[in-house]
Amino acid sequence: MIIASDKPRIPLPMPSGWFHVLYSNELAVGESKPLTYFGQELVVFRTESGMAKVVDAYCPHMGAHLGYGIRDQAGKGSSVVGESIVCPFHGWAFNGEGQCTDVPYAKNLPPRVARGEQVLGCWPVQEVNGSILVWYHPHKEAPNFQPEVVPELSDEAEQWSEPSLHRWEINTHMQEIGENAVDPAHFMFVHGTSDIPMAEEMSFDGHTRRGFLKTLQPTPRGNVEGSIENANIGPGLSVVRFKGLCDTLLLANVTPVTNEHTIAYYAFYQRKADIGGPLGRVGEAIIKNIVQQMEEDRIIWDRKKYYEKPMLCDGDGPFAKFRKWYSQFLVE
Ligand code: FES
Ligand SMILES: [Fe+2]
Repeated sequence: MIIASDKPRIPLPMPSGWFHVLYSNELAVGESKPLTYFGQELVVFRTESGMAKVVDAYCPHMGAHLGYGIRDQAGKGSSVVGESIVCPFHGWAFNGEGQCTDVPYAKNLPPRVARGEQVLGCWPVQEVNGSILVWYHPHKEAPNFQPEVVPELSDEAEQWSEPSLHRWEINTHMQEIGENAVDPAHFMFVHGTSDIPMAEEMSFDGHTRRGFLKTLQPTPRGNVEGSIENANIGPGLSVVRFKGLCDTLLLANVTPVTNEHTIAYYAFYQRKADIGGPLGRVGEAIIKNIVQQMEEDRIIWDRKKYYEKPMLCDGDGPFAKFRKWYSQFLVE
């Protein structure tokens, strides 16, 4: 007899870490935008000095949402004046540290405002590798690791193309998506590859996981030998380097909207010299292949249930190691 269960499909808490919320070029100076991540409503704004700031969405005065402007700002976010975002309801202004910097019509400021206290929740932000990253921790603890700067996009940025951007909304917990990296057997069945790609190296060290495998890159003239080097920096950020005919850098970031709803942001970079040259078709095929794999994986991820103790066999990948590493980010 099957007994119906009222347990959630994936009983895991939302992981803590650095997460992509927007690409840097999606937020101009003076612009603000609403965000929904980490099961919360937030607002991001770029100050006049160019800093991206993220604060809680609801104004501490009377609860208006700071991400939706009115009149001159209709269809946009609230206005930004200097280093502060201005609430559309009564004009109170707040800086990225959550202090109220102006109450335009008050003769006597509320005491907490007068004392310069933080009155609005604010979030640690960094801009790295073309992304605005936010630190999430369920108990608001400070970051205990840092994102990694990708040298291709800092030291040799002029050699690399504008990215090809792809985005998926996936109805699952982020850990389930991450497990793809330690699941060689699914490639034959979900992605139709002819053999099982085995990682030659896999290391788990603090907040990072790194893997390396040799592959066959599909080209219009058959498969060519190559390699894939991949790294997770915490649960949200990953950097993948496909080497072979047409080197491809993939920044594959995943961000939780809730613990069963994740957005994957993929940005593929290739060398300008390759894109314009005879390898352009190979480069396109590499991206197309990964995008198709995501579509295929998603059919499983959207519906699968999480088993704490799956029934594994000797050909399965190092799931236990991966989950032990990942558990450091799952704070109840
Ligand atoms: S609700 Fe924001 S200023 Fe009044
Ligand atoms: Fe996959």
